[in-house]
Amino acid sequence: MRLMALDKCQSGSKLGKTIFHEDGRVLLAQGVKLTDTLIHSLKKMSIYTVYIEDEASTGIEIVDSIPEELRAEAVNVINDGLNSIAKLKDDKPNIQNMMRSDRAIRGFKKIFKEIHKCLNDNRAALNLLAATKIHENHVYTHSLNVTIYACQLAIANGLPLKDIEEIGLGAMLHDLGKLYIPSEILNKPGKLTEEEFEMMQSHSELGFDILRKIHEIPLPVSHCALQHHERIDGTGYPRRLKGDEIHKYAKLLSVADVFDAVTSHRVYRPPMLPHEALELLFAGNGTQFEHRQVQLFKESIAVYPPGLTVKLNDGRTGIVSKYNFYAVGRPEIRIIKDEENQEIKPYEIDMAAKENLTVKIVDSDTLL
Ligand SMILES: [Fe+2]
Repeated sequence: MRLMALDKCQSGSKLGKTIFHEDGRVLLAQGVKLTDTLIHSLKKMSIYTVYIEDEASTGIEIVDSIPEELRAEAVNVINDGLNSIAKLKDDKPNIQNMMRSDRAIRGFKKIFKEIHKCLNDNRAALNLLAATKIHENHVYTHSLNVTIYACQLAIANGLPLKDIEEIGLGAMLHDLGKLYIPSEILNKPGKLTEEEFEMMQSHSELGFDILRKIHEIPLPVSHCALQHHERIDGTGYPRRLKGDEIHKYAKLLSVADVFDAVTSHRVYRPPMLPHEALELLFAGNGTQFEHRQVQLFKESIAVYPPGLTVKLNDGRTGIVSKYNFYAVGRPEIRIIKDEENQEIKPYEIDMAAKENLTVKIVDSDTLL
């Protein structure tokens, strides 16, 4: 199967992968033939790309880094947990509230163990394009994505289990404060006014103020909420911390946070592809983000995931058929068009063995 821009899909195209709602309900099942009406409805849900099965891409498989069932369960656990903990702000501390937040933290820890096991057992590059999602843009979906990226990055850092588990908890809770920001501001299509921007920025401290009062939460985990928008050159917020004044968890988390923000759909722009988001991270490498974290992140995710159509520097076009975990940016390609852009009988090449070949562009004919 291959990834195809919805605009380029024709009536009759066969869906290669099931499309899910965020809570795990099936929206459209694998194998369904798209009709003009379905294509139109998907576009209205801000879905830009889908996987389709066609002859040229037969046998190309897309592997989910996190199984769909686990993802749906985690979304629900994070949603319920964040809402329970957020209630602590207004209510007076009492046994009931404490029990509720205890239960939430236990739920977070349990689900994170499963996510960690999944990523640790597979040790493959994360493919963030594997699942086609409806972009509903909730804090809990973002929190789950950041948790997955942060976990992968923490493993790549070779951190001890205790640190990895604290980072996981910090990632699930980092945007807790956003639950107090009005949705008109969170989802405002245009530029925020100065006042709105200040309110938006207050989410770091709002989250921290609650988390630091919860006994079971180690202080470094609360600092994930407080510091994930700090930048190593001192241009972040809320405290304009610099370099090592920022906790190591927060430095790691900021890379995962920005990566998910730019690869997610926003009302004012379509999502970036992984290689574009990485370029953005590299632009802030050493100023906004720590060099080591950006480099390790690049090595942990599939820059050109299977199913993506790419043009090579010699003019040939192909579909990424397999990702090389040990050769970032040099996947295996199924060539489908020659240098003159003529369709040919497909054949495979391994870019890792052909040093003169580079991916020039992600093919705009199929994706844009
Ligand atoms: Fe945030």
